[in-house]
Amino acid sequence: MGYDLVIVANRLPVDRVEQPDGTSTWRPSPGGLVSAIEPVMRADDGVWMGWPGGTEQDLEPFEADGLSLHPMSMTAEEIEGHYEGFSNATLWPLYHDLVAKPEFHREWWDTYVSVNQRFADEAAELANEDALVWVQDYQLQLVPQMLRELRPDLRIGFYLHIPFPPAELFQQLPWRRQLLEGLLGADLVGFQLPGGAGNFVRLVRQRVGHKTHRDLVYLPDGRTVRAAAFPISIDAAGFEELARSEEVTSRAKEIRAALGDPSKIFLGVDRLDYTKGIYARLRAYAELLEDGALDVEDAVFVQVAVPSREHVEEYQRLRDEIDRLVGRINGDLGRIGRPAISYLHSSYPREEMAALYRAADVMVVTPYRDGMNLVAKEYVACRYDDAGALVLSEFAGAADELRQAWLVNPYDINGMKAALLEAYRADGKDLTKRMKAMRKTVSHNDVRAWADHFMSELSHVRDKHGKAVRP
Ligand code: G6P
Repeated sequence: MGYDLVIVANRLPVDRVEQPDGTSTWRPSPGGLVSAIEPVMRADDGVWMGWPGGTEQDLEPFEADGLSLHPMSMTAEEIEGHYEGFSNATLWPLYHDLVAKPEFHREWWDTYVSVNQRFADEAAELANEDALVWVQDYQLQLVPQMLRELRPDLRIGFYLHIPFPPAELFQQLPWRRQLLEGLLGADLVGFQLPGGAGNFVRLVRQRVGHKTHRDLVYLPDGRTVRAAAFPISIDAAGFEELARSEEVTSRAKEIRAALGDPSKIFLGVDRLDYTKGIYARLRAYAELLEDGALDVEDAVFVQVAVPSREHVEEYQRLRDEIDRLVGRINGDLGRIGRPAISYLHSSYPREEMAALYRAADVMVVTPYRDGMNLVAKEYVACRYDDAGALVLSEFAGAADELRQAWLVNPYDINGMKAALLEAYRADGKDLTKRMKAMRKTVSHNDVRAWADHFMSELSHVRDKHGKAVRP
């Protein structure tokens, strides 16, 4: 009746899209989380709970593409307080180094608590005895504790896909203790990088007062919680296969031709988010054109900006800023049939992304702060020709693994300009050497290995330290 594996995430892997005629269809939902968890779900027979986007109520469970999906409806007030408010205007900027100023509102917090409780209640209903429940990301940090109170028999894992900030920033949060206690309901709390896990353990010791040793937290009830890093990845083989397909190969050629066969294509692909450093990156590129180091007859910058969180004020402001910047750069530096920047504010299917990666000579990923950044890994996975250059921010989690990229500090415009030029001018031998090494890393640590590692560590923590406490 129930399930042995329950994935609890804010979003379902598909979004419900209303058609003008009143019917609805489904399309893959945005972001790295979905692309990471989907292959895991396919392999293990489980259920995925989450919000399908929109405000429709009383949605029935359904199957999509062989996945069992359990939609959680959200009211307009819940979307405003939980999703747009506390998750994306409080936690998101707070956890990303205060790149924007977080807003603290008590009503948002109240809604965050009640939505988390609803998710926990539903997960408790869906899970079989001794099932494994894997809670995902910053929108649901209270679920582990709420779920443990309802179902102490469950093995509970939590994974944070975004950075976990240092204590100096985290402690601004009026509800810091509640969030830490929420996460401590899990047996295993996973982070992208060791630094995030370390920040968490330190905060638990300082703010909650529990005893800790290395990556373990000892709770007064005898339970042990482990906090460790599990850098996430992608379905590398799946991307490579797609990139090798005839369809994608010919589409990549088409893209090059449509851009006027420039000698080099630069590419940026991001959700339109202020953490991604799109503005600074485009400015750096424009300055290279102004300086005469690059020429619009030879090079073009394709920037894909996927619409995101469009009701949140900071995102609206960012969109206006980027629109204005791209307009100004193209107006000042473009020529007929030769824009400096080919700007696409849209989301595309995986096939089109793979074709863009195949067409791009220099992939530019320059976030101010990013948990991992899967775009960087997708680019590498698609370059089976061992060609192509990656310019990567040292503040993306991916920089820990992709050491052979041109690593940049996105706050340093001159440094970014220099790296873009070096990557543009790099010879084939250098590119091959770097790409080969990065491809080895990405194909070895793929998303399957990530999930297997997390799940096996989760059962290990329970066997060793935490016998389930029955009521
Ligand atoms: C990031 C977050 C995910 C989120 C995704 C898309 O990858 O870690 O939790 O789902 O962005 O953002 P959205 O607000 O559209 O869900």
